[in-house]
Amino acid sequence: MLSLADVLAARDRVNEVARTTPLEYSHTFSAATGATVHLKLETFQRTGSFKIRGARNRIGTLSAEERERGVVTASAGNHAQGVALAATRAGVPSTIVMPKYAPISKVSATRRYGSDVVLHGVDYSEAAARAHEIEAAEDRTYVHAFDDELVMAGQGTIGLEIAEQCPEADTVVVPIGGGGLVSGVATAVKGTLDDVRVVGVQAEGASATADSLRKGSRQELASVDTIADGIAVRATGEKTFPVIREHVDEVVTVSDEEIAVAVTKLLERSKTLVEGAGAVSLAAVLERAFEYEDDETIVPVLSGGNIDMNTLTTVVLRGLVEMGRYLKVRTELKDRPGALERLVEVIADANANIFAIRHDRTSRDIAVNAAEVEVDLEAHGDEHAAEIVASLEGHGYEVDVLA
Ligand SMILES: Cc1ncc(COP(=O)(O)O)c(C=O)c1O
Repeated sequence: MLSLADVLAARDRVNEVARTTPLEYSHTFSAATGATVHLKLETFQRTGSFKIRGARNRIGTLSAEERERGVVTASAGNHAQGVALAATRAGVPSTIVMPKYAPISKVSATRRYGSDVVLHGVDYSEAAARAHEIEAAEDRTYVHAFDDELVMAGQGTIGLEIAEQCPEADTVVVPIGGGGLVSGVATAVKGTLDDVRVVGVQAEGASATADSLRKGSRQELASVDTIADGIAVRATGEKTFPVIREHVDEVVTVSDEEIAVAVTKLLERSKTLVEGAGAVSLAAVLERAFEYEDDETIVPVLSGGNIDMNTLTTVVLRGLVEMGRYLKVRTELKDRPGALERLVEVIADANANIFAIRHDRTSRDIAVNAAEVEVDLEAHGDEHAAEIVASLEGHGYEVDVLA
C-alpha cells in the first residue's frame, strides 16, 4: 500500500517539472461558511491541473530502455496533457490515444506539449483498448491515470505542500475520480499532520467510490453523467480503493447544480477559473455536504482549471440561475397594442434588467387572441427573483418560472 515514504520520494522528481502551487486564504468563502477556508490552487499548475505531478513521477522512474521505448496512455482530458508535458520534458516519446470526439482544444494542447496524438474510438474505453494494443505492439510503458502507486505518490506531493503551507489545516477536501489524487493527498497529510481529516468528493452522477464504501467493495457504475468530466469515472481503482478505505474519513457527493454554483462563485469572487471536477471540493464545503465547526480550518483542493469555453458559458448561466441571478419567466398577454410595453414597465419597476424577450402569437397552447411571452431577466438573488415574480402576479400576470 502507498506510504508517506513513496510520496516523499516523489517530491524532488515532481518538483523538477511541476510548480509549487499557491494556497490562499479566501475571505469570501470563510465569511460564507463561518469556517477558515484556504484554497489550494492547483489550477495554476503547469498544464492547468495536478496531473503533471503523477505523470512526472511515473516517467521519472523509467529505466533507460523504457525511456527509449516511450510511454502510452489514453485520456480525453487532463491526464493527456500531464503525460504529454512530463514525457517531453524528460525526452521520452509519448503516444496519447484520445477518443475521436475529444474537444479540439484538448487535442491541440496535447499535441503542442509534444505528444503523438492518436484519435481512436467513440469513448474512453475504446481509446484505452487501442492504447493497450500500442503498449503491447511497441513495448511501451502504459501510464495509468490513477491506478499506479507512482502516479498516486506524485499526486500526493500536493498534500506535502498543504502540510507546509497550512499546518493548522483541520480538514482537507479532495475531488475523486479514480482516486489517485485523494490517495496521494490523504497519505501525505495523514503522515505529516496530527488530527487532520480528509473528505473526498464525487459528483452525484459519478459516485463509484461513495457507493463502494457504502457497500464495502469496489462497485462499477453502468454509466456516469455529470458536468464534471474530469471525475466522470465508472470505477475506483484497485490500488486506490484500499488507500481510500484506510485514510479517507468520509466521501460525499454534490449535484451538478451545486458544482455550477461553485464554479460561478470562484470566477466571480476569487477571479479563479476552475473546471467542474476541480470545484466539487468547494461545492461540498459551501453546501455543507459534510459537517464542520466554525473554528475549523478547511482546505479544498481546486484540482484543475481546464474547461472549454462553451461548457463554461453553460455552467455559469446555470450557476446564475441557481443563485437567483438569472430568471426565465413565461406569461401570456392579450394580443393588443401596448400589452408588451406594460409588461416591460412592471419588470422595470421591479428593478430587473431584461436580457432577452420572445413574443409569440403562434403557439397552439394559447388562445388565438393571446400572445405568449418568455423573458430572461437579471436579478440580484433569490429574494429579488421572488419579488419580481410576486410583482408580475400582483399586476395580474400568470407566471411560470422556467429557470
Ligand atoms: C481536475 C481534476 N480533478 C480531479 C480529478 C480526479 O483525479 P483521480 O482520478 O486521481 O481521482 C481529475 C482526474 O482526471 C481531474 O482532471
